[in-house]
This record gives sequence, C-alpha cells and structure tokens, in this order.
Amino acid sequence: MAIVSDLSATEARPPGSLAKLRMAAAPVVLPSLLKCDFGHLADQLALLEHGGVRALHLDVMDGHFVPNLTYGFPLVQAIRRATRLPLELHLMIENPGQYLSRYRDAGADGMTIHIEAVPEPAETLAEIRDLGASAGLALNPPTPLSAIEPFLADCDVVLVMSVMPGFGGQKFEPVAVEKIQRLAGRLSPGQAIEVDGGINDETIASCASAGAGWFVAGSAVFEAEDPATEVSRLTRLAAENQSQHQE
Ligand code: DX5
Ligand code: ZN
Repeated sequence: MAIVSDLSATEARPPGSLAKLRMAAAPVVLPSLLKCDFGHLADQLALLEHGGVRALHLDVMDGHFVPNLTYGFPLVQAIRRATRLPLELHLMIENPGQYLSRYRDAGADGMTIHIEAVPEPAETLAEIRDLGASAGLALNPPTPLSAIEPFLADCDVVLVMSVMPGFGGQKFEPVAVEKIQRLAGRLSPGQAIEVDGGINDETIASCASAGAGWFVAGSAVFEAEDPATEVSRLTRLAAENQSQHQE
C-alpha cells in the first residue's frame, strides 16, 4: 500500500543519527515544532539546522489520546524534505502500531509511544526497532514509574512527561524530576532519558542534574527572539548542570 509515494527524502537522511545522539554524553535540546511559524516552515527549519540544532521533536496528536490534533503523514514528509535533522515523533495517539511504518516512511528517525495508550508495549517497541528507528516509551505525570519498569530494556528512549500531553505552554510538574532521578543509573549507555513539557531556563537545570540527557522545548524556543540561540543557551545550561552532577 503506497500511502507515501516519494521516499527519496527518507533515503537521503543520515542513518542512525538519533542513535549517535543517544550514545553521546552531551545534552541535546530538541525544539518541539508545535509553536513554530508553519507559514514559513522551510525558513524556520533552515535557521534551526544552521544554528546548531541537532534533532527535532514532532508532537503527533490524534484528538483521541489527547484533545488536540496535529501532524499527519504529509506534514512529516514536508518537514523531512526541508531538513536533514533527525526527527523524533512523539506519538500521542491511540493504536500507534497501526501507523508506525507510514510515519517511518514519511521520515521519522525515532518514534515514542505512550504507556497509557499501549499498556503492554514490548511488541510495538520491537516493531519500531525493526523499522530501524529509535524506540521511545513515554509516561504522563500521574503514571507511576512501575508501569514502564518491565519494558526498560525494550526502549532506546524513556520520555518523562513534565506536563499532561496535548498542548504546549503548560507549567512544568516537578514530579518529573523525581522520576528522572529514579531512572538515572538504571539505563544502559545508548538509552536516553528525555523530559518534555515546560522546559525553560528555570526548569532545565533540575532535570539535567537529576540525570536527563534530552530536553524538549517548545515555547521557550519559539517565543525567544532567536530560536537557535535559545537552543544553544538551554543546551549550555543543561551541560553545566550535568557536569556539576557528575563531579
Ligand atoms: C505536549 C508536548 C510537548 C510540548 C512542549 O503535549 O508533548 O512537546 O508541546 O512545549 P512546551 O515547551 O511549550 O511545554
Ligand atoms: Zn512532545
């Protein structure tokens, strides 16, 4: 079934680029494109890419798992064509297994599913890996860590939500820091701890010192005068706090 007809952009992407970021010790700030200027998408992506951004976070919402709607396949494909940056898709959708291969064909380098949508996620995570993408598992602020613990070995990325998913611009929930702390030290090299929601220059330090390595930031980046410079600034803040933690 050729839903996505032109795969040239997917074929051209650098292979394994999210995997390289997972292996590196340096923190990564991933802009969430929810608040970017979609009227000037290609220009915005070029500014981010040339400004040193290393990966992008796309919030896919289905109007069922969360009360909001965002990217379908054509938009992911358009973003894929406009940038060589790796694309991490945060799938806030029911039945994600149904769409994995099409999102992969559209250009996803990583796909993150929610434990609240897929309570037994081992098979779906294996499918993401089989497609050659990084497999992520997310949990919402009220969901206990115990819900994902049996599946840690099946994940390349554990995404700790610091807001309820669905909308950008919400207030950071500190319960995320506690979960990051408990996860740190339990994962192997190459498995990233990612935090998403309300990340800014006030909240990034506690997440970095707790042990997170990947930081999703939407409002902080796109409400800044220069989004790429803001990503660099947040990355520096994370790095400073990570190294303090390691000393
Ligand atoms: C929430 C999304 C987040 C969010 C990030 O559903 O998963 O990626 O949009 O945006 P800020 O940084 O504004 O919380
Ligand atoms: Zn997200």
